[in-house]
This record gives sequence, C-alpha cells and structure tokens, in this order.
Amino acid sequence: MPYNNKWLCTMLVMLTTGCVDTGSESASGTGAPVAIDSGPSPAANSANPLPLLGSARGGHYWNNFCEGKPDDTVVPEDPRRMVVPGVNAGKAVHMNGHWQDCQVDDNPGTCGELRARVERGFKLVAANGSVGGGTTFNGSSGNPGLFTLSASAYNRLWTTWGFWKRPANFDELAAERWGTALAPWGNPYPLPGEDPNKTNGGSGRLPMALTQLRKPDGTWTGNIGITCSVCHGGKVGEKSDGPGLGSMWGVNGLSDMTVMYADLGQVQPLLASLAVFSLNKVRGTGNITNFQFFGMLEVTGHIAEAGPSVIAVQDEPSTGTEDPPIWWNLGHRVNKFYDGAQVVGSKRIELSFHLPGAPLHGLLPPGSDWDKNKQWIVDNIQDSDAWIESLRSPAWPESKLGAIDVALAEQGAVLFHTKNLWAADLHNPVRQPAAGNGSCASCHGAYSPRYVHDPAFLDSPLLEGIAANITPIDIIGTDSKRLDGNNQEIVDASRNAWFAYKDGPFDDKGNPVCGNWNDSKLRGDRELGYLAPPLYGVWASAPYFHNGSVPSVRQVLRSSERPEVWRRVSNPTPAGQSHVVMGFGTNLKYYDKSNLGWRYDTLSCGPWWLPGVQNCNKPAAETIGSTLDNLLNTGLLFNLVNVPPFADQTVKDRKVYNTHKYSQGNAGHEFSDVLTEQEVRALIEYMKTL
Ligand code: HEC
Ligand code: HEC
Repeated sequence: MPYNNKWLCTMLVMLTTGCVDTGSESASGTGAPVAIDSGPSPAANSANPLPLLGSARGGHYWNNFCEGKPDDTVVPEDPRRMVVPGVNAGKAVHMNGHWQDCQVDDNPGTCGELRARVERGFKLVAANGSVGGGTTFNGSSGNPGLFTLSASAYNRLWTTWGFWKRPANFDELAAERWGTALAPWGNPYPLPGEDPNKTNGGSGRLPMALTQLRKPDGTWTGNIGITCSVCHGGKVGEKSDGPGLGSMWGVNGLSDMTVMYADLGQVQPLLASLAVFSLNKVRGTGNITNFQFFGMLEVTGHIAEAGPSVIAVQDEPSTGTEDPPIWWNLGHRVNKFYDGAQVVGSKRIELSFHLPGAPLHGLLPPGSDWDKNKQWIVDNIQDSDAWIESLRSPAWPESKLGAIDVALAEQGAVLFHTKNLWAADLHNPVRQPAAGNGSCASCHGAYSPRYVHDPAFLDSPLLEGIAANITPIDIIGTDSKRLDGNNQEIVDASRNAWFAYKDGPFDDKGNPVCGNWNDSKLRGDRELGYLAPPLYGVWASAPYFHNGSVPSVRQVLRSSERPEVWRRVSNPTPAGQSHVVMGFGTNLKYYDKSNLGWRYDTLSCGPWWLPGVQNCNKPAAETIGSTLDNLLNTGLLFNLVNVPPFADQTVKDRKVYNTHKYSQGNAGHEFSDVLTEQEVRALIEYMKTL
C-alpha cells in the first residue's frame, strides 16, 4: 500500500518540523487551554488534494516526534491538552470529553527520557521475564508475595488435568486452556530439576499472563507471578503473517482468567482465594470494573474512612461482562474507560492490579505500609503509561487477507467523514446527537489526511484520530449495565479514594478533577453514555462494543445480522489429547475477511433442560422488573458468589456468548442501520486501512 507510506511521511515531516509550541512542562492542574499551532498545512489544493487514505496506527504523537531525534531533543506539549471545553466548537468532529492534568511530571522533558520511560514500562507491564517486571499485588521488587507461586508448583499443574505423566506439550496446553498466548519471545521458567540461573531462566515457556520474577541484579528466582496480560494480552495471526502480528500486548483478551486462577489455586492455595471472585464469566471477557471491589484495594489502608462506603455499595448493580479495551488507542484518548468516567491523566488506577501488599497492606504485617505502597505506583506510573501509549496497531496483512480495494476504501473514507446519518431523507429513528456533522467521524474522530487538514473538521491536524465523544446512552443504545454500575452512589463512595485523586487537583468548588467524571458535580449537563473509541486497527480487535457482544465490524453497522448466542471457533485438540480444553483460534484462517471479525458458530436457543441448547429466556427476575434484576446482579452476588469451574465441560461452556444474559445484550449503534449495502461495504474496506 504505497499510499500509506507516502502519507505517513508527509505526516511525520509535518509533525517533526517543530511546529508545536513547546510551552511549559508543568501541569496546570486545571486543564487550561493550551495553544498549539499545527503549522502550515502541507501543499494541497483542489487540483492536488491530500490523500484520503492513511493512518497513524494509534500510538502517541511524542513517539513519532522523537523517532530518529537525539536524546536531548525537547519534547513538545501533549496535543491532547488542546481538548478542553470549546475545542472544535461548531466543527464536524464533536468532542465533549476533556483533558485534565493530574500530575506535574506527565511530559517526559526530552526524547531520551521518553525512550527510557517506554523501555522501563515495557519491562514493568509486559514483564516477560524482565528485571523490573510487575505482578499481581506484588509491585516489581522480584520478591515472592502472597499471590506468586513456585515453578515447582507450576510444574505439578498437569496432574490436575487428567494426565498420568507430564505431556510434552504442557506449555502449549496451559496457553490453550487459559486462553493466554505464549509470549512472542522469551518468558522462561525452570522445568523440574533445572536451576534457572544456569539455564537462562529455564527451558519452559510461560504464557503472557505469567512471568518469572527476577531480582534487581538479574538473578532468576524460580517464582512466578501474574501480569496485566491475563486480560490485556492476545493474539492475531502468526508472527510470520506480517509486522506486529502474532502474540501482542494490548489487544482484545482471549483468556478465561477465572479458570486460570482456579487451576493455579489447586497448587498454590492463596491463589484459590482470588478464584472466588468471578473475574469473568465468558472466555475473552472480564468483569473488571467492579467498583464495589475497587474499594477493597484501599480498605485496609484507611479502614475508618473507606470501610463503611465499601460495604454500602455492595448492593449497587455490577458493571458485568466487559471486553478489555485496546491499548494502542490510549495515546489518542483524553478520557478512558468505557463510560469515559476518568481522564487519561488520572493514571494511578492503571497500576492498581500490581499495588504491592493489596489487599492486606496496613494489616499484615502490623504497621502501615500504605504510604510506601502508594509511592510504588507514583514511582512507576509514568513508565507503564508511556509504554502503553507507544503501542501501534498492526496493518491489515494484504498478503494473507487479500489486497485492499483502494477505490472502494476511498469511497469509504469520504462516507466515514461526511455521510450524515441523520440527513432528513434517511429518517433515522435514533435521536440526533446535539453537535457534529452526523458522520462516523463526528464521534470516532478524523483519520483521513484530507479531512484531518480541513479546518471544518478539526481545530488542528494534531487532533488526528482523537475520539473524545461520550455518546448519550439513549443514542448509542448498547447494553447499559456497565454504565449503571458507575452511578452516583459509587461516585459518592469513591470520593475518598486515593485512586480517585482525593488529594487533588481540585476545581474552583473543591471537587477533585481527576476523580470520577460521572459525578454530576464535574460532568455538568453532559449526558451519561459510552465513549466512542478511536478506530485504529479496528479490524484486529473483534469482538466489538464494550461488552464484546458483537462478533464483526459488519454487524456493528447492521444490527439485524447479530447472532443471539454464539461461540468463537476453537483450535482443534492435538492428536491423542481429545479431553483437553483448547482456546479460540487466532490463526488467520479463522478470520472472516469480508466482515472483519473472528469466525464463530451460532448456537440454538431452547429450554434450559434440553442438552446442547442455550437458555435464551431472560432471567426470570428481569421479566419481573429491573429492580429485582439489579438486586440479583449486585457487585456482591455477580462477582463474589462464584463456584470455580473445574470440570472440563464447564470450562468449555464458558466459551459461549449468550446475549440474553445480564450485561451481555447486543443492542445499540442502530443509527448506522440507515446505511445502504454499498455504503457498508465501502466503510468496511476503509476500516481495513486504519
Ligand atoms: C482482570 C482483567 C484485567 C487486568 C488484570 C488488567 N486490566 Fe486493564 N482493563 C480491563 C478492562 C475490562 C478495562 C476496561 C474497564 C472499563 O472501562 O470499565 C481495562 C482498562 C484499562 C485501561 C484503560 C484503557 C482505555 O482506553 O480505557 C488501561 C490503561 C489499563 N486497563 C491498563 C492495565 C494495566 C497496566 C494492568 C496491569 C497493571 C491492567 N490493566 C490489568 C481488564 C484488566
Ligand atoms: C453518535 C456517535 C457515533 C456515531 C455517529 C458512530 N459511532 Fe460507532 N460507536 C460509538 C460508540 C459510543 C461506540 C462504543 C459503544 C459501546 O462500546 O458500547 C461505537 C462503536 C463502534 C465500533 C466498535 C468499536 C469497538 O472496538 O468495539 C465500530 C466498528 C464503529 N463504532 C464504527 C462506526 C462507523 C463506521 C460509523 C459510521 C457509519 C459510526 N461508528 C458512527 C459512537 C458512534
């Protein structure tokens, strides 16, 4: 795709010609507007317009800017600081979410420091056998903790899977059973009898969800901990299919982490204590935004303040099933989480999964370590965030999935940026958004060089790909449970949380502005809803919507074609091992290149007592009324009362996505049903290029 490279060069030249006001490096604490002059537009006129196709592939502007520059080059202002109230007023792309500075050291200062942060962040978050790798509730010291296990315990796991002797493909089987891909390289652990310090870490290979702990001096410890990739690691195709493909960090998860915890709990009892939490109900998803349980992270740090509120919110609705969001988009966001309720600058929560000592700090050992534990997050948060924001989406592999039809994709680019879905003759039954030009770009941002440089679309070309539209829930219409779970009761209960920056910065009225923006005190008259994501690499991030309820991009645009009960295709079992549980197929032969999504089977609905069919009746409670439904699906009942799955059949059943279950509805985005078949095809072709 030569057009792509050509455009990328233009973009890079533009980005690197010092057109940005480097301004001050300090955070203002109030998110005051920052003037960033994007410089002269590249030569373009009606005879020679800018190209329609091209993509920055996510990541962050700073990483482009610093490419090939000396270490002492000063890093400019973050372009996202332009996104404050009034940005893009009256323009095609509508932004109602806003930037907020939360700490003074966000700007790395120089390209050298940016690169150092990214490198340390990779070691911390991907871990992958690195010195400085972080693990669950254990920081990054390399010392074993409550939730780590020894390699010798790990080496016994096959005994719990119905084998008489260790299978030669044990490492592959673990990766399949838990749905966590083997890391792209390295990530060793010692096999029985091996000394990891004489064998370069050992000759076993861990999946991405796990890492062997190392001491700061590089010594391997033979202890294993859990990484962020238990939810945020995935796989698209094989390494040989194209640049950036294969196992990758920050793509849709594939795992069934509840199964992994239940298994590990059999060889390390303290990990079983985590298996009583239902961390997910369906393979490839998580119930992670348990606001009710987030309170627990801090509860022993300041029990008097946090205790009562943590208990009080247990009867609020659970946020339910969620599909981990895509990391390569983070550098193009100003808000994060599915309802946009936190600003991206509010970074502490991102390392909460590694908070040292949680959930017992302050209680065990006696004497409070809470301050030290918080400090670990402060000391590391810029590194992890810098690495996550540096990630890029993989390009559509033309050699494997077919050449992009450039003419059709160009038609799609025009539609994406200019087609008004609420034009009078379309009679769109969905309420029209208050602002923007009614196109895909009005919510998802502008990507096409031609529109990125058009002042009718963006205040500055540096806002390329920034999606900052929190679409009101009655317009987007996707399952509301995730949003309902972050209600005013939760906001009130979390006000004292350190993760919600109770220590400031504050607005004029004393509200902590890096806290929860669903709070009516901060939100003002903005309606509650879901944040439209940037669409970089969207072809590679199926399934779709915040709950992962829709298998393909085509079905996002065509609501009538969505399956009710479906299951992604699994890898075949190896010869002679028919009883093992396999993971979802990620080889590109399982990819549906015309609809953009992974292949799946549709399951039939029927009475619960008939074998082989799925119960598609709404839970009885839902038909009685939503109050009772919410009661049965509170944080406590939905997430805590969990019978860990052990039987292979139970583990296999968890691959089924039933859209009739709580929080798993597949409605919404129905305003795009007004598109014609030809328009849908052109838009799909265009999205392959992002
Ligand atoms: C148990 C699964 C799970 C684990 C473990 C986990 N995450 Fe997440 N993460 C999620 C889910 C699901 C969301 C979306 C939450 C929401 O919006 O409600 C998320 C959101 C995020 C986001 C915001 C992305 C965005 O664009 O909104 C970042 C950044 C992030 N996680 C980083 C991390 C890091 C770093 C770790 C490890 C220290 C980690 N996560 C561990 C599941 C997980
Ligand atoms: C009024 C705002 C709005 C418009 C217009 C809009 N979208 Fe969306 N779109 C959203 C929101 C919000 C979501 C996320 C919904 C959720 O996760 O519950 C979304 C989700 C998507 C997704 C799934 C992304 C993912 O990773 O899960 C795709 C693909 C998509 N939109 C494409 C389009 C295209 C193509 C158009 C134009 C035909 C379009 N959208 C128009 C707001 C909009």
